Amino acid sequence: MAGKITFTMIKPDAVKSQYIGAILDKIVASGFKIVAMKLTQLSAAKAGEFYEVHKERPFYGELVEFMSSGPIVAAVLEKDNAVEDFRTLIGATNPANAAEGTIRKMYAKSMGENAVHGSDSDENALIEAQFHFSGVEMFR
Ligand code: CMP
Repeated sequence: MAGKITFTMIKPDAVKSQYIGAILDKIVASGFKIVAMKLTQLSAAKAGEFYEVHKERPFYGELVEFMSSGPIVAAVLEKDNAVEDFRTLIGATNPANAAEGTIRKMYAKSMGENAVHGSDSDENALIEAQFHFSGVEMFR
């Protein structure tokens, strides 16, 4: 039976540092199936739209600037309990607080440049997946 989905982005810091392969390897080794994926770059407008929920936060401008500063890998991942299991795999938002062995502990530089994004709910996973991919680009 198909599992649930989560949405991830490998952020510009990790792409620039050539961590795409290592991060995808860890994701697949942890039981996630990649059902959609692309190397792309967000415009500032698109990054602003994606992170609209953080619009009033003091770090919003910095976040939008950073997320549109270079290429990212966008992907949809499928697994039972995908959202929660992926958040466990990536670790805390601030890499200083991330558990040993998590993706952010291993590859993130800071709270802002934290290597990967992971959806925070099933509802947002679907919204975020559909923000980046059309139905025919998702192989579920
Ligand atoms: P992400 O999981 O992509 O969701 C929102 C992002 O905002 C988060 O990862 C961080 O990269 C960023 N973020 C959250 N809190 C802060 C903060 N206090 N300062 C800078 N960036 C932040």
